[in-house]
Amino acid sequence: MTETTTLAQPLSRRLKTETQAAHEGLDSRIMESRPFASLDRYALFLGMQHQFHRDIQALYADPRLAHLVPDLAARCRLSMIEADLDDLDLQPSQTMPAVDLSDDLATRFGWLYVAEGSNLGAAFLIKEAAKLGLGEDFGARHLAASPEGRGRQWKTFQAALDDADFDEAGEARVIAGAVAAFQRVQRLAEDAFAA
Ligand code: HEM
Repeated sequence: MTETTTLAQPLSRRLKTETQAAHEGLDSRIMESRPFASLDRYALFLGMQHQFHRDIQALYADPRLAHLVPDLAARCRLSMIEADLDDLDLQPSQTMPAVDLSDDLATRFGWLYVAEGSNLGAAFLIKEAAKLGLGEDFGARHLAASPEGRGRQWKTFQAALDDADFDEAGEARVIAGAVAAFQRVQRLAEDAFAA
């Protein structure tokens, strides 16, 4: 190895770095809105989650992504969010028009990164939800770990990202997709907690 040789960072690492500020902004916006202060506040959070996961539902049925990401269909959490709404006698509402998802595989992978990564933060959120009497069997099903565990599920996803072998332009589109997804969730959070 010469002095000028640099090892390229894996895409999963680049994504984390490039979206860190967006994640921190979103995390603060949500937690400042005290989503676990009461069931009424939690309902706003659940509505936001529902809208985002409905936006991206098609990703989990995309055969091109399914070819790359193990157990893709089983990762979809929309039906769990619907069960959570049902537990709490809430109706799904759509306060913002659905997003127009790109057909581009790289862009879609970026959106999927945001949804799959959010399952890590859910380890913390489900503990907060427990203070409201909610959990993996009632009201906060969508925040539960998968049977294989959050860590393993995330590692498998990161490996799929890194093994997809996008070229530089493709990686840029994955990152742009992730940034767009974070912007979308940020807007949904602003909308849900506007009051
Ligand atoms: C509401 C408060 C939130 C908190 C407190 C939170 C917290 C966290 C924490 C602690 C991690 C890192 C876990 C680890 O490395 O083991 C994480 C990762 C992540 N979260 Fe959040 N999160 C929140 C909301 C969200 C939301 C709403 C989204 C997107 C919809 C999101 C997307 C992500 C992503 C993509 C990662 C993976 C970062 C990476 O390692 O590449 N988070 N979150």
